[in-house]
Amino acid sequence: MEKKVAEKKKFLVEVAWETCNQVGGIYTVIRTKVPSMVEKWGDDYLLLGPYFPQTAAAEFEALPVTDDSPVGRAILTMRAMGYQVHYGNWLITGKPKIVLFDIASIYDQVDEIKGKIWDNHKISTLGVEELVNQTIALGELIRIFLTQFATENKSKKDIVVHFHEWMASTCLPDLKKDKVKVSTVFTTHATMLGRYLAGNVPNFYDVLDSFNWHKEAVHYGIEAQASFERAAAQKADVLTTVSDITAKECVAFLGRIPELILPNGLNIQRFAAMHEHQNLHSLYKKRISDFVMGHFFQNQAFDLDQTLYLFTSGRFEYSNKGYDITLDALEILNRKMKESGSKKTVIMFFITKQPYHSIDPEVLHSRAVLDEIRENCQAIQKEVGDKLFEAAASSNDLQLPDLNQFVDEYWRLRLRRTVQTWKTNARPKVVTHLLKQEDDIIRNLHRTQLLNNADDKVKVVYHPDFIVSTNPLFGLDYGQFVRGCHLGVFPSYYEPWGYTPLECMARGVPTVTSDLSGFGDYMMQIMRDYEQWGVSVVNRKTQNYQEAAEQLANMLFKFTQQTQRDRITQRNRVESIADTFDWSNLRGYYDTAHELAVLKKRK
Ligand code: G6P
Ligand code: GLC
Repeated sequence: MEKKVAEKKKFLVEVAWETCNQVGGIYTVIRTKVPSMVEKWGDDYLLLGPYFPQTAAAEFEALPVTDDSPVGRAILTMRAMGYQVHYGNWLITGKPKIVLFDIASIYDQVDEIKGKIWDNHKISTLGVEELVNQTIALGELIRIFLTQFATENKSKKDIVVHFHEWMASTCLPDLKKDKVKVSTVFTTHATMLGRYLAGNVPNFYDVLDSFNWHKEAVHYGIEAQASFERAAAQKADVLTTVSDITAKECVAFLGRIPELILPNGLNIQRFAAMHEHQNLHSLYKKRISDFVMGHFFQNQAFDLDQTLYLFTSGRFEYSNKGYDITLDALEILNRKMKESGSKKTVIMFFITKQPYHSIDPEVLHSRAVLDEIRENCQAIQKEVGDKLFEAAASSNDLQLPDLNQFVDEYWRLRLRRTVQTWKTNARPKVVTHLLKQEDDIIRNLHRTQLLNNADDKVKVVYHPDFIVSTNPLFGLDYGQFVRGCHLGVFPSYYEPWGYTPLECMARGVPTVTSDLSGFGDYMMQIMRDYEQWGVSVVNRKTQNYQEAAEQLANMLFKFTQQTQRDRITQRNRVESIADTFDWSNLRGYYDTAHELAVLKKRK
């Protein structure tokens, strides 16, 4: 009979540059996954990352370090060696234990470490940017820690170390060389070369197999980054990435086929009552409408009940994020809506980050005057209300009196003057901020003539900053803004995963994505009837640019033709399947990766 070997317990360490340090999407992966990880691993789970005093002050709480655990002893040894190592709780849902390393405490040794990396692995790091030096310093601290931890690990649990992205993995080749007793998983969330080449080489996916990774890395000045990424990918016991699309890049640029694909999830919080998310939509939509009135109505008024709020958001990668195709589709949509005599108005928000001087004072002013108009109206409303009440109580007449008589001259004039000074012949601005320089969005708004003319059915608001709750224009945080909108538009060309459409889904907002984004590709694989669930996928794999732009325009046009009832039903459906992307359903992929790493290491 086959003897069953008792499965050894494991201890999992996850390492990321974005642990307790928000930069982009990897922070979302790590942070939202924590509750699900802590549920499985309990105390056998630890996160590692860099120590930055400012973020740490808000998100980190130190704990005492004692010598009664391997982690504690490893930290104490490092402190005795003179390194600054912080241990504590990360103050997020799940409250995991984390170790943060202060790069400054080893920075004077960076040149020496670089010399060693060159001697051992022939990775050239001469003249690299500051960030690379920081990742090298962090890598060395992680290496020392893991080496100590593995030595101290008397409990003989299998230690699995899961590295995210090259920035956290510069020490991976050394761990391998030193035969440190840990199993390793390396997850790449994009490739450095993919990001650069997709944005610069036409038909990138068609020629993917023909690139010489080293030549291109040198060409784009990212030789060190690409080399670290490739070394980590090749040396790890298990290589994974976030989508099939990025797996192709791994083959082309990292020289290895990933063993597994680990799709990204979120921590989905469902409401007990179905109507709650609809109420929130309605509430936040009003806030967006306040902005829209302030911005547009001084020049052109339209029916807000017939107005749809569409948005796109992400970092400023003009063609990678599909801002280009979105603008071309909007031009077509504008024409179609005019030709068909549509009663609707579409406001398209571009939310991204570009250098600017300040919010445009005129945009702020118009918003402020609108607030004043509202205050005037409220004052009049109160006056009329009070007087009507008196009149009704004291009269025997059942007729409603003429309400005009209750508004006194002062308020009448004040309201008229405020409205008059506010109205203008100037077109509403397409950009809310004073940009430091003209960019591709502005240039293409001029090319497509989407300039907020009165007769345009499609209007544009370009907001070159991320939305935070302190923003005076909306007074909403990003999640609330998303809820207030009707549709998210993300037809990316290069997007290893792409959280933005998923963030819409989680909030019950339908979304457009593309089959070149990891999320879109995954959605098509797991749900054949994805459109039923409010996800539209633009075909960018086999259609050319123009065809894809037209397809997107048709999708948007169809959306404008839906009735309010259709939209409400659709939001309910979207919200109801968001759970598919909860980490409780997706953590299993990570579990498999960790098991595989241990098996491969044992071999
Ligand atoms: C939700 C609210 C309704 C509101 C509707 C607007 O369903 O519960 O009160 O009328 O949203 O939907 P719309 O798609 O027109 O923004
Ligand atoms: C990278 C990718 C992005 C993905 C994120 C998290 O930032 O560019 O598409 O969503 O990693 O995996």
